[in-house]
Order: sequence, then structure tokens, then C-alpha cells
Amino acid sequence: MKHIITFAGSNSENSINKQLAIYASTLVDEVKVTILDLNDFELPIFSKQLEEKEGYPENAVKFMDQMKNADGIILSLAEYNGAYTSVFKNLFDWMSRIEQKTFMSKSMLLMATSPGTRGGQSVLQMAADRFPRHDAHIVAKFSLPSFNDNFSDGKIINQELNEALLKEVKQFQESL
Ligand SMILES: Cc1cc2nc3c(=O)[nH]c(=O)nc-3n(C[C@H](O)[C@H](O)[C@H](O)COP(=O)(O)O)c2cc1C
Repeated sequence: MKHIITFAGSNSENSINKQLAIYASTLVDEVKVTILDLNDFELPIFSKQLEEKEGYPENAVKFMDQMKNADGIILSLAEYNGAYTSVFKNLFDWMSRIEQKTFMSKSMLLMATSPGTRGGQSVLQMAADRFPRHDAHIVAKFSLPSFNDNFSDGKIINQELNEALLKEVKQFQESL
């Protein structure tokens, strides 16, 4: 059975991106899903001196191992000031030092959501531009606008948006 990992680029305990990522993973048929939370992979802020002195933090290596063992990745990025959250950028920076080909050609469904009408499109675009340089194989993308209006009880309640996600999930499924 194929195995996917699902996580949000957020450390919020009630992350809306984590909720969306989990929902998307329930739409993928016949896969083993591992839900990851960045709060379980606490890391020091990256610095070159820390890297020289102490090497890679264990949690960054552990997170890389989770990616290595997966066939696919569902990632939903929270947007802070038009960009990655600090917690995700820090993880990304550490991981890119461990392995420049950070995403190891794994199939990726890349998403973002926010309470605003743009649904995290800035961070989604930023990642879509950058991740392929780190061997991301982004097969599907989805942005959910106005989370509080369109998501309830663990699922998307706007039919049009739900169908748009289902199409992306199908692409992801076929790529695994
Ligand atoms: C410092 C900060 C900056 C934010 N900047 C943006 C932004 O640029 N665009 C946006 O749509 N939402 C922005 N938000 C609102 C977040 O989208 C919202 O907090 C969302 O819940 C974050 O996702 P999460 O719940 O998965 O952590 C910002 C929130 C914070 C705390």
C-alpha cells in the first residue's frame, strides 16, 4: 500500500491548514496516511554557526526521514505576511542543508488556505516557484479562500470548491 504524509506549514494548535490537509488526505483512496505536526519537530532557528558547531538537529533529520519513507506529500501552507510562516521556513532551511533535493521527487499536493479571500495564494505561488528547485514533484495545487465560510465539520462545504479539490486529489492519486 502507498504511504503519504500530511502536514501543515504552521504551528498553530488549531491550524486551518492542518484541517484542510487532513481533509484532503481522506479523499485519497487506499493509502496509509501519516499526519505530522510541526509542533512535534521543534527546531532551533537556523544559523550557520550552530550548524558548524552542532550539526543537524535530530528533529530536522527525523522530519527528512518521514519524507524519505513516503510516496507522496500533502502540504498546506499557512500564509504570514504573504510568505511562509517562520516555523515552516526554518524547517525548510534546515532540511535544505541536510539534502538540497529536499523533496526527493515525491509527488506533492500543495495547498494553502486562509480566512481571507485570497486563500494564501501568495505563499502557494512562492512555494510552487521554489520547491521544484529542491526536487519537488508538484502534481496538484489548491487554494481554499475564506476558510471560515467554506469549511465546516472537517470538510469543504462549498460544492464548487470541493469539486475543484477532488480534481486535484485525483491527479495526486494517479501520480502515486
Ligand atoms: C503574523 C500574521 C500574518 C498574517 N498574514 C497573512 C497574509 O499575508 N495573508 C493571509 O491570507 N492571512 C494572513 N494571516 C492570517 C492567517 O492566514 C491565519 O492566521 C491562518 O489561520 C493561518 O493558518 P493556520 O491556522 O494554518 O496557522 C496572518 C496571520 C498572522 C498571525
